[in-house]
Amino acid sequence: MTPESWTAVDQYLNACCLAPDAVLDDVAAACTAAGLPEISVTPNQGKLLGLLARMQQATKILEIGTLGGYSAIWLARALPAGGRLITLEAEPLHAQVARENFRRAGLEDRIELRLGAALDTLPQLEHEGRGPFDMIFIDADKPSNPAYFSWALKLARPGTLVIIDNVVRGGDVLDAQTTDDKVQGVQRLLALINKEPRVSATAIQTVGSKGYDGMAVMLVE
Ligand code: SAH
Ligand code: DHB
Ligand code: MG
Repeated sequence: MTPESWTAVDQYLNACCLAPDAVLDDVAAACTAAGLPEISVTPNQGKLLGLLARMQQATKILEIGTLGGYSAIWLARALPAGGRLITLEAEPLHAQVARENFRRAGLEDRIELRLGAALDTLPQLEHEGRGPFDMIFIDADKPSNPAYFSWALKLARPGTLVIIDNVVRGGDVLDAQTTDDKVQGVQRLLALINKEPRVSATAIQTVGSKGYDGMAVMLVE
C-alpha cells in the first residue's frame, strides 16, 4: 500500500460516510488560496472530531491551533445551541482566513478565536475562568506539546476528552536520535502520559490523504 492508495481509500470512505459539503469545500479552497500549509485534518478525521464532541455532549470546547478553521468548523458544528468553541491561533493571516471561514460556515456566534501565542492566551483563559472544557483538541506547534498537555489538565475536569494530533509524524517518533524539535515535542509528550495519573490514554496510527500520522486520545480521570 502506498500514499496514493491511502488517498484513494480516504476518498472511498468519505463518499460512503460523509455528506457532500459545499461549505467545507469552500473553506478548504479558501485555505489553499491564502497559501496556508495543507495540514488541516482530513474530512473523515474532522467528522471523527465532531462525532467525539457529540458523544461527549460537549458544550465547551478548546482548540489549540486554528489554521484556517477547518477542524474548528467540525467541532463547532457539533455544539448544541449556546455551546462555545474557543480556538487559539498565533499567526494573524491564519486567524484572518479562519474568521472568514467561520462567517462562511455561519458559525461566528459560536466560535471565539483568540489571536496570540497559545502560551500567552491559555493563562488568560484560566484567569477569566473559562474552563473547564468538555473537550480539548491540541494541534499547534509540536515543540510546545508538553506545555499544552499541562495546560489542558489545568483547564479540564474529570471526564474531559483530550485529543492531540500528529503524534506519529511519518514514523519519525521512533527516532530516539532525532534533532527535529517537532518530533522531540511529541516524544516528550508521550513520555509524560503514562506518568500522569490524571489521564487514561491511548494513541493510534492513521494513514490517509494527509499521509502517515496518528492521534493520542485521553480521558481525564
Ligand atoms: N487544527 C487545524 C490545523 C492546525 S495547524 C486543522 O486541523 O484545521 C497548526 C496551527 O498552529 C497553525 O495555524 C500555526 O500557526 C498555529 N500555531 C503555531 N504556533 C502556535 C502558537 N504558539 N500558539 C498558537 N497557535 C500556534
Ligand atoms: C504539522 C502540523 C500539523 O498540525 C499537522 O497536522 C501536520 C504537520 C507540522 O507542523 O509539521
Ligand atoms: Mg494537525
